[in-house]
Amino acid sequence: MYLTHLSCSACGLDHDAGKPQNVCTACGKPLFARYDLAAAARTLTKESLRTRGKSLWRYREVLPVREEADIVTLGEGWTPLLPAPRLSAKLGLSDVRIKDEAQNPTASFKARGMTTAVSMAKQFGIKKLAVPSAGNAAGALAAYAARGGMEAHIFMPRDTPRANVIECEQTGAFVTLIDGLITDCGAEVARRKVAEGWFDVSTLKEPYRAEGKKTLGYELAEQFNWTLPDVILYPTGGGTGLIGMWKAFEEMQQMGWIDGRRPRMYTVQADGCAPIVRAFEHGDKFAAEFPNAHTRASGLRVPKAIGDFIMLDALRKSGGGAIAVSDEAMITATKEIGAAEGVFVAPEGAACYVALKTLLAEGKVKRDDKVVLFNTSTGLKYLECYS
Ligand SMILES: Cc1ncc(COP(=O)(O)O)c(C=O)c1O
Ligand SMILES: [Zn+2]
Repeated sequence: MYLTHLSCSACGLDHDAGKPQNVCTACGKPLFARYDLAAAARTLTKESLRTRGKSLWRYREVLPVREEADIVTLGEGWTPLLPAPRLSAKLGLSDVRIKDEAQNPTASFKARGMTTAVSMAKQFGIKKLAVPSAGNAAGALAAYAARGGMEAHIFMPRDTPRANVIECEQTGAFVTLIDGLITDCGAEVARRKVAEGWFDVSTLKEPYRAEGKKTLGYELAEQFNWTLPDVILYPTGGGTGLIGMWKAFEEMQQMGWIDGRRPRMYTVQADGCAPIVRAFEHGDKFAAEFPNAHTRASGLRVPKAIGDFIMLDALRKSGGGAIAVSDEAMITATKEIGAAEGVFVAPEGAACYVALKTLLAEGKVKRDDKVVLFNTSTGLKYLECYS
């Protein structure tokens, strides 16, 4: 297809996309997939998209897999962008929408990244995949690995929501629960992967999860009829979705589909784990590890992210920012959103709505702004939070 090479997000060094890669061999930072966008744009056109399938593979030319036969799919992507008229009215805003990522396979947006990462692993003949996860990435890897006939070795904190543990077990993964955080799980994968022959698919430590996640950006543009919203609120852990969207906007501009205007991007985190918020407020380039990380929004319990500098740069360039909200406010907001719009959101999704109220109070969102909230998973996976 049109994938040409990988380039380092920090030092720019090029890497061969014809073999498995993890991070930059020179500086250890994330690698980005690069395409011949001029060639891709010859067949990937706004018109051609009208008749394509309703999955993220509709953007085939800007996705990395070479052979159709290697695509490992469960029907992910092209999720609805639901208008939220009652919440909009309540807040005095004209247009708030919810991108409902719960409607993906395994009920979270993690399916997007895993379809591309597992498909690329299949292309390279890899048989054993390993991941540290806060929960939803684990469920997605387990499902896609099974679908592709591969082994999934999953490392999660012991107090990960039960739904995540059970879904991994029931889709045939090897599950290890660790007394610690996702960073401890990552250290365990790193310690064992060479001896075990595992390929590490940790967030941003392999180049293709971000490619699947970037389709969030393509879908937003298409669903807004080739414009972009004014404000995006995104619940941030490792940051792949945010980073992926930012990359998608750049690619679409290079293909002549959108102009240089960007949404104001806001990272939403939990009070108990807000490394990006802290770094943003301090004006730092990198985010220090957040001590004693805790929150019931398990997807946000990521005390240290390898893509921190990429996120911080995107937030600043977009004119957005970073906001932390309390667990209590997230859980309370879940019912407010559910009763108003019929969507039982995950705590991470609810966090975005709480953050929107803060932005309004601070005058950072205006009445006529088009606002998108990301609901990244479903409340059904977090029943512990509601008993
Ligand atoms: C439901 C949910 N929302 C948000 C996140 C954070 O995602 P990202 O790593 O793209 O920042 C996660 C990650 O585990 C998650 O499971
Ligand atoms: Zn580098």
